[in-house]
Amino acid sequence: MMIEVKNLFKQYKEVLALNNFNLSVDNGDIYGLVGPNGSGKTTAINCILSLLNYEKGDIFIFNEKMNSSKNNIKAKIGYIPQDVSVIYDLNVYDNIDFFCGLYIKDKKLRKQYIEEAIDFVELNDFRRFLPKKLSGGLLRRLNIACGIAHKPELIIFDEPTVAVDPQSRNKILQGIKELNLKGATIIYTSHYMEEVEYLANKISIIDKGHILVTGTSKELKSFVGLGNSLEISNIKIDKNYMDELNNIRGVSKILKNKNDLKIIVENALAISNIINYLNKNNIIYDSLNIKTPTLNDVFLEITGRELRDNGY
Ligand SMILES: Nc1ncnc2c1ncn2[C@@H]1O[C@H](COP(=O)(O)OP(=O)(O)OP(=O)(O)O)[C@@H](O)[C@H]1O
Ligand SMILES: [Mg+2]
Repeated sequence: MMIEVKNLFKQYKEVLALNNFNLSVDNGDIYGLVGPNGSGKTTAINCILSLLNYEKGDIFIFNEKMNSSKNNIKAKIGYIPQDVSVIYDLNVYDNIDFFCGLYIKDKKLRKQYIEEAIDFVELNDFRRFLPKKLSGGLLRRLNIACGIAHKPELIIFDEPTVAVDPQSRNKILQGIKELNLKGATIIYTSHYMEEVEYLANKISIIDKGHILVTGTSKELKSFVGLGNSLEISNIKIDKNYMDELNNIRGVSKILKNKNDLKIIVENALAISNIINYLNKNNIIYDSLNIKTPTLNDVFLEITGRELRDNGY
């Protein structure tokens, strides 16, 4: 177990930001912590890292109880904060040198690590640039380099792709997979569902400071009983055919919106049965699309609210 958080409560004056928050992260995980704005993701991370005090709860990292004086634990963690935290008077190279130097005292080794970090985030052409000369995406990449240069075993990314151009975003996501393949355990917070689905082997959905559900994205979807669906647009179909459609094996629900149908199915066979049925009865329509449920649908199903998702 890399991280174990038990019954954590955190209050900011009148706001209860964490309300019995529990988390278990295994060695080797890419763990996605997903939730809407203000749900408590950053607060949870800051408590885990002992950057914030909390009212109640226990936090273990590498099987050791965490507190702010545990420098041995901190040395094995990389933290990429949500708000870019670099030193604006230092250039790219010197920033990485500064943060890496907090943990790596051997100068020769540090130099090697800095070069590897610069290569990793592809900032070679910008090594002498001051942060204010970097674009938003490049600045985020510098923020990452500062957090990972000392080769931590556990890396925590707090929404690293917000307001980042698509090219930098792809590099960041690929980089995280690569770090994980090289052995790092990752915690990744986001409200971009697609990113978390792409990256994470385990996902927790947090809302109002409490984890609602945890599982693989497949498990979360089946947990709320969301199957694939078939969306048929502009269909010309009589009521009696509709009743028969409802009775096709594997059809669990049919939603009608004017001339469009959304048919929730239990399995792939149901989809081919529906298509066969429509063909056999010469029922015409404009188009037919198969949709898989998203984590957004899971959140909507559990809370009745949309998880704000800006897409890309
Ligand atoms: N320093 C603070 N003082 C008072 N309230 C705070 C403070 N920091 C956060 N909060 C409140 O605590 C709750 C959790 O905030 P937090 O920043 O942890 O959420 P988040 O999930 O990281 O949100 P986002 O996706 O916007 O980053 C929110 O209601 C927020 O307004
Ligand atoms: Mg946050």
